[in-house]
Amino acid sequence: MSRILVTGALGQIGSELVPALRDKYGADQVIAADFRMPTGEIEAPFEWIDVTQPNQLQDVFRRHKISRIYHMAALLSAVAEDKPQLAWEVNMGGLYNVLELARLHNCSVFFPSSIGAFGPTTPRDGTPQDTIQRPTTIYGVTKVSGELLCDYYATRFGLDTRGLRLPGLISYTAPPGGGTTDYAVEIFYQAVRYRHYTCFLSEDTRLDMMYLPDAIGAMIKLMEADASKFKHRNAFNVTAMNFTPTEIADEIRKHIPEFVIEYDVDPMRQAIADSWPRFMDDSAARAEWGWTPTYDLAMMTKDMLEHVGAKVKSAR
Ligand code: SER
Repeated sequence: MSRILVTGALGQIGSELVPALRDKYGADQVIAADFRMPTGEIEAPFEWIDVTQPNQLQDVFRRHKISRIYHMAALLSAVAEDKPQLAWEVNMGGLYNVLELARLHNCSVFFPSSIGAFGPTTPRDGTPQDTIQRPTTIYGVTKVSGELLCDYYATRFGLDTRGLRLPGLISYTAPPGGGTTDYAVEIFYQAVRYRHYTCFLSEDTRLDMMYLPDAIGAMIKLMEADASKFKHRNAFNVTAMNFTPTEIADEIRKHIPEFVIEYDVDPMRQAIADSWPRFMDDSAARAEWGWTPTYDLAMMTKDMLEHVGAKVKSAR
């Protein structure tokens, strides 16, 4: 098999996706790429790429025989809302550059869409696979546009594009970079360090979530799946659990009884969360390529506390 390129390799997803792909396909078969320089935790092959610069992508394609791209480089929702012009440039410009190079080199492309691709007029409970998508954030606008552009390249050029609508992702290897669901990661570090967390979303804000190992498994499984069974390609709803800040705090308290959560709501991120699904219907992913998550809230919380606890201890 020829090589896999992962853009955004140093981000929250990339940091665990690259090792998983290297385990499966061989270390030298997976090219990690990011616009930041690695601090040592990622091994070669590594390429410095700004995805908004097509010549830099072209250069990597020329030097490595790339046949599959996991295109993870993007701005998350809260950061994007702060810098909408940059969000369009990176999220859409980057995807367009990747799709064009994939077209020229006949590569398959994985594109991560999100719960952010929905908006306030979308049904929020049991959000269907095919439904109204009128997001009110620039992040959501780039995710819906990305879904459509990937569909277009598949039908117009026969490119093998595939993707997932990911929920909030919880992990301990690398921090999320400015999303609305970041509270569900921060809460673990604050619980371990201080037994206290001040949450920027209100106590009853219910959102879909997933532990990162499940998301990595889903991405790899989707790219390996038999496409002849697909009715959808680029935007499969996938979820593993949904909870409110109160419910995750209650779960943490089963391990750290003295843990206290307080609330200081950030109106911008609360408005974003209030425009997203409370829980999605992911039956299309289950039926078309066998999606099944492993981690529920209890299993994820136990595992996160063990890993974050070890990380905090070793940093002391
Ligand atoms: N976790 C993402 C965010 O909060 C949602 O896709 O922006």
